[in-house]
Order: sequence, then structure tokens, then C-alpha cells
Amino acid sequence: MKATRTRLPGLPDVFIRDAKASDADAVLRLVAAANPDDPGAFEGARPGLENLSEGPLSRTASLVILAEDGTGTPLGALMGGVPSWLLKHPGVSHPILFECLIARIGIISAVAVRPDRRGGGVGSALVRHAVSRFTRAGYGLLTLNFTPSLEGYYQRLKFATMDNLIVHIGDGVMLGQRWDDTRVAAKTLDQRTELTAVQGLDSPLVSGILPHTRVPKGTYFDGERLRR
Ligand SMILES: CC(C)(COP(=O)(O)OP(=O)(O)OC[C@H]1O[C@@H](n2cnc3c(N)ncnc32)[C@H](O)[C@@H]1OP(=O)(O)O)[C@@H](O)C(=O)NCCC(=O)NCCS
Repeated sequence: MKATRTRLPGLPDVFIRDAKASDADAVLRLVAAANPDDPGAFEGARPGLENLSEGPLSRTASLVILAEDGTGTPLGALMGGVPSWLLKHPGVSHPILFECLIARIGIISAVAVRPDRRGGGVGSALVRHAVSRFTRAGYGLLTLNFTPSLEGYYQRLKFATMDNLIVHIGDGVMLGQRWDDTRVAAKTLDQRTELTAVQGLDSPLVSGILPHTRVPKGTYFDGERLRR
């Protein structure tokens, strides 16, 4: 894997780079803070972290980035990749549909900054870096789940915030995902993908994520499917 290190504009002593297998402990220690009720929640990601040989956003589709200071001390970490809800969604039963969706919808599954370095722009820099990486890799939508106190934070980072994620997959059929304890932030990454208000839906609709799935103006939800 190419180890590029990006210096951040406005943050002279902070660098961002792709995590290596040897960073697994540091990454997991940092991201444990993203889920204080269950600090071991991300341990399941350890095998993937310790085997990053395929490179970020490759077939394994993971992106793990680390912010560090000039001495190489980790300051923050971000993990992203395949949205796990797509793996078990009953509407994604066909493997080709699944492959198409995971090539277009990415997720930031965790982002965290060392407590003594919070409020200094590191978290925003990690999120912006992830946005640019997913964009360059051809994704159309980047999502994440957040607790309500971070609503303004993600809005300032130009994410739209909503209760559910609703994705049009063609012919008026949608995939919906609701989380009990968190809200969703979503950002479109290309011109084809839109978040559209649709009468009858309580969250914006992700339109255009796959070819021929853009919904025209005047589309509404009749309780079963999209109509126009
Ligand atoms: C959320 C987090 C990643 C932000 O990183 P950061 O480097 O502190 O963020 P930035 O410096 O880029 O931005 C700072 C702004 O974030 C907002 N913010 C950060 N943490 C917040 C929190 N827990 N509640 C509300 N707002 C918060 C504030 O608006 C803050 O602005 P201020 O400094 O003017 O008060 C970091 O606080 C963190 O690690 N928190 C614990 C883990 C976590 O909650 N992760 C997010 C899971 S969705």
C-alpha cells in the first residue's frame, strides 16, 4: 500500500495517512471513544485492520485513516467502508445489486480524536479527507450515524441529517433503513446522486445512486412504492 502522508492546511503539525496493519491497536484504542457504551464495538474490525494489504477502498472496500503529529503520535482515526446494514437488508437479496450498491454507498463507521486534541479541527479534517477519498473512488453517497449532539457538527461539514436512509433502487422500489438510537448524516459525492424531498416520505430520498434511478419532479410515495 502506498503510504502517503498529507499535511493539513491550517493545521501545521497534523498529518493524515492511511493506517497500516501495525496501527490496528492505535486505531481501535481511538475509535473506542466513538461508542462509549460499548468500547469493544469495533473489535470485530481487527482482522480487517490487521490485513490491509489490499489497499483502501479496494475489493475489501475499507478505508482506515490516521491523523498524527510530527512525531508520529496518533491524534485521531477514522474507519469507513461498506455499510453493514446493506449486508443484511432483505431488499438486497441479489448479489449483483449488493455489489452495485457497495460500490456507490460508503459509510464512515467511526471517527474519534484523542480527548486532549479535540476541538482543534482534527475530526473535521479526517471527515473531509474521507469525503475526498470516497469521491475519488467513484462513490455517490457517504453516510454515517451520529448521536443528536453532533447534528450541528455534521451539518457544518455539509452533510444532510435525517432520521432514515431511503434509497431508490429503480422502478419505484426503495430500500429503507432506520436506526433506533442514532440519526443519519448523508452527503452526495457526485452530480448524478441527489437527496430529494418526496411527498409521503419522512426523510429525503437518495435518487440516482444507480443508473436510471433518478426520480423526476412530482414523484410521491403512495404507501407502497414511488409513483408520479
Ligand atoms: C466528534 C469528534 C470526532 C470531533 O472531533 P474534533 O477534532 O474534536 O472536532 P473539530 O475540532 O473538527 O470540531 C470541533 C467542533 O465539533 C463539535 N463537537 C465536537 N464534539 C462534540 C460533541 N460531543 N457534542 C457536540 N459538538 C461536538 C463542536 O461544535 C466543536 O466546535 P467548538 O470547538 O467550537 O466547540 C471528537 O469530539 C471525538 O472524538 N468525540 C468522541 C467520539 C465521537 O463521538 N465520535 C463521533 C461518532 S459519530
